[in-house]
Amino acid sequence: MTIKREVVTNQIFNLIAKKSTFQKKKINSFHKHLNKKDFNEIEFYLKLYKKFLFINKLSLKNGVSSYHEMCTDMFNCHIKFLRSGRYPVQSLNEAKKNVYFNSIKMKSYMVGLAISQFFWETHYKMFKHLQKMILSRKNAKSYLEIGPGHGLFSYFSLGILKSLSNYTAIDISKTSLNLTKNFLKFISKTNFNKISHFVNKDFLKLKEKNKFDLIVCGEVLEHVSDPIRLLKKINVSLEKNGRVFISTCANCPAIDHVNEFFNIDEIEILFKKANFKVISRKILPVEKVSYRMALQKKITVNYSAILEHK
Ligand SMILES: C[S@@+](CC[C@H](N)C(=O)[O-])C[C@H]1O[C@@H](n2cnc3c(N)ncnc32)[C@H](O)[C@@H]1O
Repeated sequence: MTIKREVVTNQIFNLIAKKSTFQKKKINSFHKHLNKKDFNEIEFYLKLYKKFLFINKLSLKNGVSSYHEMCTDMFNCHIKFLRSGRYPVQSLNEAKKNVYFNSIKMKSYMVGLAISQFFWETHYKMFKHLQKMILSRKNAKSYLEIGPGHGLFSYFSLGILKSLSNYTAIDISKTSLNLTKNFLKFISKTNFNKISHFVNKDFLKLKEKNKFDLIVCGEVLEHVSDPIRLLKKINVSLEKNGRVFISTCANCPAIDHVNEFFNIDEIEILFKKANFKVISRKILPVEKVSYRMALQKKITVNYSAILEHK
């Protein structure tokens, strides 16, 4: 098996592998299917990620420690979930106190999550899915991202969407919003300050009057106790021919997930209720098992979809 990871990718991989044989095997079994073009793209982002860490006064070692912390948190939450059948966190207030408003925890979480986009097959595939939507709408004028977290998706989108006159990022966590701003320091758009709006609010509480051609909402649906309200709000914020990229997961307890989905049907029923139709979707169990088996064994299933008005 020859895996030709580039320099920074390999540096991060070695740091991860040194601490966890399980991770080493899992990442190798994903990376062995990638080609040179994929590795070049991954390297591009991870070089940027290294600079992003530097701006945030962190080293690559700190970044990888954060990644391991996130994996351990997820593992512990999953054990509790398997024992009790319920997600361990049940209220938004708990998530706010322990995560969103805890700058140390939130920073570590988002920095770790950014790494997973290139080392977890399911997260990588969802990032590719988002890219597909953005590349199909290069002339979009307005873009809203709800819960940008680390800022990677916004960075990609802003690099492609040359005609934007409105870029808006909304995040409940000030720490996330600051991380996003720091990631977007690498954007070379001359008018970026003029077109960009960073809003530190709960999207559900926001009176957003603007409509957007593109809306990105990665991994937020499982964070809100009223997901149908979130979807309906996205629907009214979407231009007539606009598109939404949304990702979420089933059987995926975490330190800030308050909304339990037990299968993908539950998610797609909500889309219908919110007047969306699904243009394309990815159903991605995190283990090498069928979707049906994942549900039976309560294995996490990642999910992303591109939506339009019904
Ligand atoms: C798990 S991260 C997702 C980051 C990135 N979008 C991704 O898909 O990898 C969730 C982000 O959503 C934010 N968030 C959670 N609930 C929110 C809400 N009600 N309104 C706005 N942002 C929210 C969190 O602060 C965090 O930055």
